[in-house]
Amino acid sequence: MLAEKRILLIIGGGIAAYKSLSLIRLLRQAGVAVTPVLTRAGAEFVTPLSVSALAGEKVHSALFDLTDEAEMGHIQLSRVADLVVVAPATADLMAKLAQGRAEDLASTLLLATDTPVLVAPAMNVRMWEHPATQRNLTVLRGDGVGFIGPNDGEMACGEFGPGRMAEPEEIFAAIQAALGDKVMAGKHVIVTSGPTHEPIDPVRYIANRSSGAQGTAMAEALRDLGARVTFVTGPSSVPPPQGVEVVKVETAAQMLVAVEAALPADAAVMAAAVADWRVENAGAQKMKKDASGQVPALKFTENPDILAQLCRSVRRPALVVGFAAETEKVVEHATAKRLRKGCDWIVANDVSAQTGIMGGTENAIVLITDAGAETWPRMRKDAVARALADRIAQTLLAR
Ligand code: C5P
Repeated sequence: MLAEKRILLIIGGGIAAYKSLSLIRLLRQAGVAVTPVLTRAGAEFVTPLSVSALAGEKVHSALFDLTDEAEMGHIQLSRVADLVVVAPATADLMAKLAQGRAEDLASTLLLATDTPVLVAPAMNVRMWEHPATQRNLTVLRGDGVGFIGPNDGEMACGEFGPGRMAEPEEIFAAIQAALGDKVMAGKHVIVTSGPTHEPIDPVRYIANRSSGAQGTAMAEALRDLGARVTFVTGPSSVPPPQGVEVVKVETAAQMLVAVEAALPADAAVMAAAVADWRVENAGAQKMKKDASGQVPALKFTENPDILAQLCRSVRRPALVVGFAAETEKVVEHATAKRLRKGCDWIVANDVSAQTGIMGGTENAIVLITDAGAETWPRMRKDAVARALADRIAQTLLAR
């Protein structure tokens, strides 16, 4: 399926441009045709000869090139591909794209194209974090531009933080997702994500360390397979995905209402770290220190178990996936939880502090189904999500 596709690859000026050579190789190995475009700055980092040798095609670089225009005008060039990929995308290229400028071949192609665009930014961490770049990012996301990375890490300039271009394998996976078959088209999936906040009074709350990263990655992976996704999220530290219906909630009680309102669904993926208890005697006003030195006593009451209620509901989705964050006896606890909650699968993981999983970028899961427990290797959370989404698609389509 990838074999008949074509990518218009715009290589911007950055040290990460050398990684685009590996990306071309990965694409060519998968049978994807690559039409390369090298910006003037890009050509300072990789040579047109290496790019064209790997792509097996001519490199385009100038807007006003008589030969190019005679063979194929730049408007036509902007339409040749199934996907336009910008890797590396500099801060300048992002700014041009956000403003709709057309002052060189790359920006003109990006303005003229009618195909989806995937951007892999690479720049110094300060440039990435600058309000201007963040503003451009928001504008571009709103325009439907897809992003992969940047990743955190040490940069060529010696600084540390977000700004490293995503690895070629990650960009390749994102391209695969963007071009892949929409096997979940017509299916509706509810994904819950993030922590819940349970108020103590109007200014204080009880929370947990869930970042929402795994739930967000699940929603993105299911969206990429063509599913309609309702994403019910507590206050997460990662932004919600584009291209899904986002329902923001704070408490478990609100999450339950939102999940029920989103039914019917073909599948539900309950990745939220829902608080088990809420404060029954939460104050309507901010609690004050007592002159007598008396410390307030919080009284807890149990929250609804959204997953268990959904599984018992007459409108139960055909496939319900629960998550289980454990700190010991992972398989034993998760296996019991699957039966107790009545869900089809449990995605279990060990979140004890030394694993770095809670709030981190990687996950090591055990998938519990009626067939038993499968231990998966430790992978990035988006890779776990893609593999789980594929499994969900296979299961739903086999029914
Ligand atoms: O019982 P525990 O919190 O470990 O179960 C985790 C699974 O149950 C997750 O899928 C979570 O989203 C779900 N859950 C829920 N409502 C609760 C507690 C957990 O839906 N009140």
